[in-house]
Amino acid sequence: MSTIAPLIAGNWKMNGLTHSLEELSELARLLTTGEAPRAVVVVCPPATLLATMASQGASSGILAGGQDCHAQSAGAHTGDISASMLADAGAQFVIVGHSERRADHGESDDLVRAKAEAAIGAGLKPIICVGESDAQRDAGEAEAVVSAQLAASIPDAAEHHEVVVAYEPIWAIGTGRTPTLEEIHDIHAAIRARLVDRFGLSRGETIRILYGGSLKPQNAREILAVDNVNGGLVGGASLLAKDFYTIISAV
Ligand code: 13P
Repeated sequence: MSTIAPLIAGNWKMNGLTHSLEELSELARLLTTGEAPRAVVVVCPPATLLATMASQGASSGILAGGQDCHAQSAGAHTGDISASMLADAGAQFVIVGHSERRADHGESDDLVRAKAEAAIGAGLKPIICVGESDAQRDAGEAEAVVSAQLAASIPDAAEHHEVVVAYEPIWAIGTGRTPTLEEIHDIHAAIRARLVDRFGLSRGETIRILYGGSLKPQNAREILAVDNVNGGLVGGASLLAKDFYTIISAV
């Protein structure tokens, strides 16, 4: 997959106040003074910081992303945010179907697909998350669960529009536990096979598959070198510029 430029995205989740933008400045400094990164760099801050981050990051090549969007483009949905609002604030990407949204807000694959469609409609690139639970992996169902999520969460529009898949085993998120390199290899190969089955060889091979779940400076190099791992989705370690930069540099 060497033809795909790797992508490293930071997901700040519900973390970050105005002063946290200092981390973005520090990241920009590291990115512009060090060796040029080989990866596309995206930061997904809370919506409150998105517009500032998008304009502040532009000069150093840091792209901005949202963490979620509504499936509708506008309307009576108090507290929600639409894909076009994110785009208007300067976002180029949006995470949809994160396991925390699926768990905390009962989001189904159908809803995730509708959100991905809305994102594409607004000119954003959706980062569509999938991943199995602990119990599902122990039961030997990881591949089946992820395949079903992919089938139902990725819209047909992915044939002609850029989408990113993020494989995030739920049990690895925020736990410090990661799958073995062999497990990552096998499930990313299975995801690639599903994408090629559905979209054909030339399209299916160009869709990025990110790994997420306790990706850290200490393990980034070996995980990001696994076949069909085209980058990472980073939670906790994206909050500190130094750690996030080390992961970006590991590509
Ligand atoms: P951690 O990197 O904190 O495990 O979070 C991963 C994640 O959920 C990114 O979306």
